[in-house]
Amino acid sequence: MYEHFETGALHDVGGKHPHGSLNMPIYQTSTFVFDNAAQGSKRFAGEEAGYIYSRLANPTVRLLEEKIAAMEQAEDCVAFSSGMGAVSATLLTFLSQGDCVVADSVLYGCTFSLMSHVFPRFGISTRFVDCCDLEALKAAVAQGCRLVYFETPANPTMKIVDIMAVSEAVHEINPDCLVVVDNTFATPFLTRPLHLGVDIALHSATKYFSGHGDVIAGMAVGSQALMDQVRNVGRKDITGSVLSPHDAFLLLRGIKTLACRMQAHCEGAQQVANYLSRHDKVETVYFPGLPTHPGHAVAKKQMNRFGGMVAFEVKGGEPLAKRFVDSLKLCSLAVSLGDAETLVEHPASMTHAAYTKMEQEAAGISGGLVRLSVGLEHPEDIIEDLKQAFDLL
Ligand SMILES: Cc1ncc(COP(=O)(O)O)c(C=O)c1O
Repeated sequence: MYEHFETGALHDVGGKHPHGSLNMPIYQTSTFVFDNAAQGSKRFAGEEAGYIYSRLANPTVRLLEEKIAAMEQAEDCVAFSSGMGAVSATLLTFLSQGDCVVADSVLYGCTFSLMSHVFPRFGISTRFVDCCDLEALKAAVAQGCRLVYFETPANPTMKIVDIMAVSEAVHEINPDCLVVVDNTFATPFLTRPLHLGVDIALHSATKYFSGHGDVIAGMAVGSQALMDQVRNVGRKDITGSVLSPHDAFLLLRGIKTLACRMQAHCEGAQQVANYLSRHDKVETVYFPGLPTHPGHAVAKKQMNRFGGMVAFEVKGGEPLAKRFVDSLKLCSLAVSLGDAETLVEHPASMTHAAYTKMEQEAAGISGGLVRLSVGLEHPEDIIEDLKQAFDLL
């Protein structure tokens, strides 16, 4: 393990690759040949190390898992074919019929949909609370709860949840209750949630880990004991949500530049948020780096910088927000985030359309809300594009 994040992100754990290859080769194989029946039996029985079949493990994917575990300073990591694969496989590993989840009210739309629409079919209920309200959270956990789930910064409102305060409060009431955080917006470059007391951190690696808009992937990190269960139950048996070796290779490549990309995303987002906060056609800006953001003090405590995501409400609500995004020229109108290009979207009608109008209101997802993933263009060019679109309103 290297002292500095940048170095660990560049240099592979475990040393040299075959033939002195600088990069890990893509082991594009579904299965692995055994020397004899005895060896096959031993591998299945866990008595001999070695590969069996790529749904269980694959060398290229394994290197990526080891690298992300090292970045999060976690004992282990399990890779998935999508962020939703990581979310659903992890939750289904630990939840059974009759269990209750306590989740924050602001979540990525598909995670919200999984909890509110799919889990009830399997007898799993969810109590949605505001995890910033510790008393409400404690009351919900005290009613009986297997797992607490939240995002910080949350998609799309940039709500900041105090990771350490939540983990301590939950574990004090019930040490067996798992605390799970979606760390996609922060990445381990900005926040290491396992150090702050959570049991499992999840990622959509589609976003900043990839960084180039060409991969769909997910990760779970945590203790060896928890990750063994996620790998052997949630990934192997329930979802089969396996990352391909080629996508693992692309992620290993993307991660080499994660630190310097994150610095640039954070710098750009701060400048864009400052600009938006002074604009008379903007109602509110949601960016944890602004002193006016309600989560600013907590963000300062648990994040190294404030991230690359900015949300804001356009005055005049949904019609003007939609006219605004339609008028942008440099920023691409697209969901997803963390790519090199600046992406803009309208959460109420896109990523968070699974919420009903009432649920959107409760979560603070208004029709006027616009979400911006600030890319790696020069911040002045991004601001110039925003300016010309505001001028057309
Ligand atoms: C916070 C968060 N978690 C999970 C996901 C799901 O990730 P994926 O699209 O890779 O399945 C997303 C997708 O946008 C997200 O924003």
